[in-house]
Amino acid sequence: MQEKKTKDDLMEKMTSLCKRRGFIFQSSEIYGGLNSCWDYGPLGVELKRNIKNFWWQSMVITRDDIVGIDASILMHPNVWKASGHVAGFTDPLVDCKKCKQRFRADHIQGKVCPSCGGELSEARKFNLMFKTFLGPVEEEAASVYLRPETAQGIFVNFKNVLNSSRMKIPFGIAQIGKSFRNEITPGNFTYRTREFEQMEMEFFVEPGSDEAWFEYWKNERLRWYLDLGIEKEHLRLRDHRVDELAHYAKACVDVEYLFPFGWSELEGIANRTDFDLKQHSAAAGKDLTYFEEQVQGAQRYHPFVIEPAAGADRATLAVLVDAYHEEVVEGENRVVMRLHPRIAPVKAAVLPLVKKEQMPEIAEKIKKQISRYFYAEMDVNSSIGRRYRRQDEIGTPFVITVDGQTLQDETVTVRERDSMNQSRIKIGELIEFLTKKIIGEV
Ligand code: GAP
Repeated sequence: MQEKKTKDDLMEKMTSLCKRRGFIFQSSEIYGGLNSCWDYGPLGVELKRNIKNFWWQSMVITRDDIVGIDASILMHPNVWKASGHVAGFTDPLVDCKKCKQRFRADHIQGKVCPSCGGELSEARKFNLMFKTFLGPVEEEAASVYLRPETAQGIFVNFKNVLNSSRMKIPFGIAQIGKSFRNEITPGNFTYRTREFEQMEMEFFVEPGSDEAWFEYWKNERLRWYLDLGIEKEHLRLRDHRVDELAHYAKACVDVEYLFPFGWSELEGIANRTDFDLKQHSAAAGKDLTYFEEQVQGAQRYHPFVIEPAAGADRATLAVLVDAYHEEVVEGENRVVMRLHPRIAPVKAAVLPLVKKEQMPEIAEKIKKQISRYFYAEMDVNSSIGRRYRRQDEIGTPFVITVDGQTLQDETVTVRERDSMNQSRIKIGELIEFLTKKIIGEV
């Protein structure tokens, strides 16, 4: 088996597979598409959902110190004044005086347009928040923003969660949801878009313990990407320089992935200090302190916040790029998506070897049984070789074949995607076999 993964056209091959097999489509394609907007198809929606579920599993379900919320995308406009986004969530923008194209000033070198060589204007600030109107009147008083981060929905609910869930510091609040930014230069497929999904968690800690918790979350989050099945050499942590830090951050580190277009951010882990709670407390006139009885006596303080902020679309893109492999097997090209079984869209495909002797009926029955636990599909048409190739391309880790022997002894063959090894297993033991392989030993 010969591996042939080429970096140059990897992005192109992967995006074409995404479209061909139904992972990701251009938004509004029949109308010519909408710049930087993408739709997840039948397989893409499963993959992204599995990634989000895995995040929720490791952040909320398996921990005692984190709870979840799902806040509204539209929030009171004063939230964004207090958070600093109205004044500070801007990118420096330059216009080309000749071709009228716009660029981020910090993305280009020199004073001439990278597209036509024309003269560029002075840089000016461009706010990235999308504005819309609440209700039928289109006036300034009714204007609201689409949230540019999910984090603020967590900060404004800090007291609600504290009072209703009896959590004690240190504890976290997690949220997955859409955010919107009017990016000046979106691009690289789904990497930078104007509508995207975030997976954010705000971890509230006692001031003074923030630096130790920052270290803890740095390591936890890197490990999560490894557990997702991404190659270790394709991941790194990068500390922010002081001039890169967001207005609220004391320190920040990015988890980066080696995309074909270079090392790029998957997630930012920031020490947001007590900035947000203090800002909201002052702006809303509400007490957002935490009260703690200690051996030395009671104390009241604004907690510091450590924030691991990830993007569901970026994690999905990294996983897709990382999984794409081309091999030559017995003189034939094989494209295989080596997705971790945990996140693969289809966990098992059930194939009747031929369309006779009750094989399709038995396969259908097996598919139904598996579907109670895992996403499974039946594949009846075309030759067995072509059906294997399709399952390899969509990353299905296990292909189960019903053949002549099944009719005699109730066993099936299970072909493992990566090794292509085949073994015979009793139908009654399939669920246990798949559970062990997909989730691990319970
Ligand atoms: N609450 C902090 C925050 O929003 P961020 O680094 O601006 O921090 C966090 O965003 C994550 O959200 C990024 O690491 C990235 O994965 C995702 N993200 C941000 N902007 C994005 C965009 N335009 N397109 C896709 N994902 C984006």
